[in-house]
Amino acid sequence: MKKIFLIALGLIIISAGVVFNLNNKSQAKENEKMDKRVLVAYFSATGTTKKVAEDLASAINADIYEIKPKIPYTKADLDWTDKNSRSTIEMKDHNSRPEITKDDFSTDKYDTIFLGFPIWWYIAPTIVNTFLESHDFSNKKIILFATSGGSGFGRTAENLKKSVSNSTEIKEGKLFNNHPRKEELKKWTEEVL
Ligand SMILES: Cc1cc2nc3c(=O)[nH]c(=O)nc-3n(C[C@H](O)[C@H](O)[C@H](O)COP(=O)(O)O)c2cc1C
Repeated sequence: MKKIFLIALGLIIISAGVVFNLNNKSQAKENEKMDKRVLVAYFSATGTTKKVAEDLASAINADIYEIKPKIPYTKADLDWTDKNSRSTIEMKDHNSRPEITKDDFSTDKYDTIFLGFPIWWYIAPTIVNTFLESHDFSNKKIILFATSGGSGFGRTAENLKKSVSNSTEIKEGKLFNNHPRKEELKKWTEEVL
């Protein structure tokens, strides 16, 4: 009887140990995710991507940074039906690099950057290349998100990779065309982080 009792006690102690260890491991994994220093950076000409970026940053408690053009885009600049508009001219030349406003922004504090923008002519506006070429993204992970009138990412990632070093990982993320709820944004970040 005493022997059975001791065996049962032993089994209980072993199972408790396994459960404790598993809990600890999943907690450690969670902490590792939270420890990642995350930034949400975005460019938005008419406010759609800005709203998604703000909700994303707030959902995951991340810093946020706006890529601002040195010369803001006017409504006429954004007229994609006009072949002489600023945006059409810039997007026809993939090497165009519209200037951004300079400030003391640095990537040092971050490991992972969610980078958002509108799709222009099936890719990211070239001002996003300016941003990537203006800072050091070596060894960082960049996850793209975008808004559009319906187009997908196309060759967006490929075009942006030209503006970073080989040590930078650029991952095609998600298009958020129907303004997502914060819970949806948070769930998505948990999948990709
Ligand atoms: C110059 C220009 C080009 C665009 N090109 C596309 C395109 O190729 N495909 C698409 O689905 N939407 C296109 N759009 C629509 C934008 O991607 C869409 O309205 C986006 O949500 C705007 O985001 P924002 O308000 O953050 O600037 C274009 C808009 C502009 C101004």
